Amino acid sequence: MKLILLGPPGSGKGTQAVRITQKYRVPHISTGDIFRSHIRRESALGLEVKNYLDQGLLVPDEVTVRIVENRLTEPDCQDGFLLDGFPRTLMQAKALDEGLQKLGKALTAVINLEVRNDTVIKRMAGRQICSGCGETYNLYFNKPQTEGICDKCNRALYTRSDDTEETIANRLRAYAGQTAPLIGYYSRKGLLVPVNGEQSADEVFNSVSGALKLGFL
Ligand code: AP5
Ligand code: MG
Repeated sequence: MKLILLGPPGSGKGTQAVRITQKYRVPHISTGDIFRSHIRRESALGLEVKNYLDQGLLVPDEVTVRIVENRLTEPDCQDGFLLDGFPRTLMQAKALDEGLQKLGKALTAVINLEVRNDTVIKRMAGRQICSGCGETYNLYFNKPQTEGICDKCNRALYTRSDDTEETIANRLRAYAGQTAPLIGYYSRKGLLVPVNGEQSADEVFNSVSGALKLGFL
């Protein structure tokens, strides 16, 4: 299973990635998570990309492609992977095609989570994440039992620094201008699996696994 999860910011890529990687036993590669982990550790890469994430702008293609190319050569990616948030530009998509070709691999499917703008804005504005185990909650759709505390590990919840009104607007603009064209790109290759991302998280996952079973396995 060599999968891409495509969708606007806040569409539920991370939420579905947890379910998909558990079911299909492939590594979850989220470029956003990789960048945030470098920013937390204040590594050279973290310092290089921090301003882009803070402003909701895309990190330059050369930087992002290099990271993903290196990650895909690691042993756990040999039998499959799930890319979440990559590619995000046509240049990244073409670089991925070339990189996979060199490795003698091909994509299985590109799952496109279709979610309206007003829904993604609400999902991002309400998102809370556990500082301990990384579990994601939502003040509108999936509240923790005790305010500000994780149900699973009792640690404090935090809000992502790019989930502010201004940054959300920039992220949506970057998506519309630079990422949305990938829908046509993968559709023309016969790889696109459109999924209604407006359903509950479990229903979305049922749709994803149903589509993968029917057309791509
Ligand atoms: P990244 O971390 O990838 O962020 P994003 O694309 O903006 O997407 P999110 O992580 O915000 O949302 P999601 O789709 O994962 O939704 P989630 O499951 O959390 O990227 C961050 C930044 O890194 C970028 O802005 C850019 O600067 C940089 N970057 C990353 N990749 C890059 C690349 N390839 N090139 C260049 N730059 C790059 O869900 C959101 C909320 O909704 C949660 O609260 C969740 O509980 C809730 N929810 C989820 N599903 C449902 C549902 N079905 N019903 C109700 N609520 C739901
Ligand atoms: Mg995410």
